[in-house]
Amino acid sequence: MKHFLQFRDFTKDEFEYLFERTRLIKAMFKSYTIYHPLKDRMLAMVFEKQSTRTRVSFEAGIHQLGGSSINLTTGETQLGRGEPIEDVARVISRMVDLVMIRTFDQSIIERFAAYSRVPVINGLTNQFHPCQILADVFTYIEHRGDIAGKTVAWIGDGNNMCSTWLQAAAIFDFQLHVASPQGYAINESLISEAEKPHLTLFADPMEAARNADLVTTDVWTSMGFEAETDERKRDFADFQVDAEMMAVARPDALFMHCLPAHRGEEVSAEVLEGTQSVVWDEAENRLHAQKALMEYLILGQVAQN
Ligand code: CP
Ligand code: NVA
Repeated sequence: MKHFLQFRDFTKDEFEYLFERTRLIKAMFKSYTIYHPLKDRMLAMVFEKQSTRTRVSFEAGIHQLGGSSINLTTGETQLGRGEPIEDVARVISRMVDLVMIRTFDQSIIERFAAYSRVPVINGLTNQFHPCQILADVFTYIEHRGDIAGKTVAWIGDGNNMCSTWLQAAAIFDFQLHVASPQGYAINESLISEAEKPHLTLFADPMEAARNADLVTTDVWTSMGFEAETDERKRDFADFQVDAEMMAVARPDALFMHCLPAHRGEEVSAEVLEGTQSVVWDEAENRLHAQKALMEYLILGQVAQN
């Protein structure tokens, strides 16, 4: 049984298979072709943090594959009253076929997976957001072809998205340039030896973005860090992706943002809405890529149709 708790839980071959399935599943969706490989299968979603894209893409996705879902939030379940995660895992996983969890520390999802009878998907933790990077790498390839040998510039917080981009860099063999304000660097304890050669740190965000094939950023304050919002606004003031920054990237560079975005903070409205921005494709591809992921976790590799 496989889980998807970090991006590096899958090999490059597995991602290539998933991208092939994503293309087919997306084409079926666009042509209104009914495809129900997960008929009668049940996905439990556990949200300990807010969500729009993850909630809608997983719920719509499992339904479109013939299954259904249950949405659980901390406040409405016994999790909110302190039921141990190991107990919750043993109970939920006896009743459903697949679990997606959005929570705080990565250790919570690892403890859940250790006690789960069914595959577990990381729908975002403080450390990683593998489903988003799955969709983002797919989106890059859709627009520009192979990502190997390319340069991705990460501007801003060395957060869950940034750490997951680095895991993808080692798997797909691209370079990650990261520029973060002092005190907000990527978490070194999460970086493996295999990932180190793929990372270059920059003090100046313009230098990180120079000649990049993809420029990407995220909110200055991630979920769970709201108490630091004012301080972060001051510390990140020089880290906005704007037209001037996109101008030093390659002329065909794409702009990505996992959303939700704060126009005028981490990205200017001009860049977010501009011709290089593929943020809406990224969001849509969450649906298609996660349908491929759910199919793979439940059924394994299927004969290509
Ligand atoms: N990008 C993303 O995961 O969005 P939500 O927080 O809306 O799920
Ligand atoms: N880094 C952000 C991503 C939101 C999708 C957060 O964790 O809040």
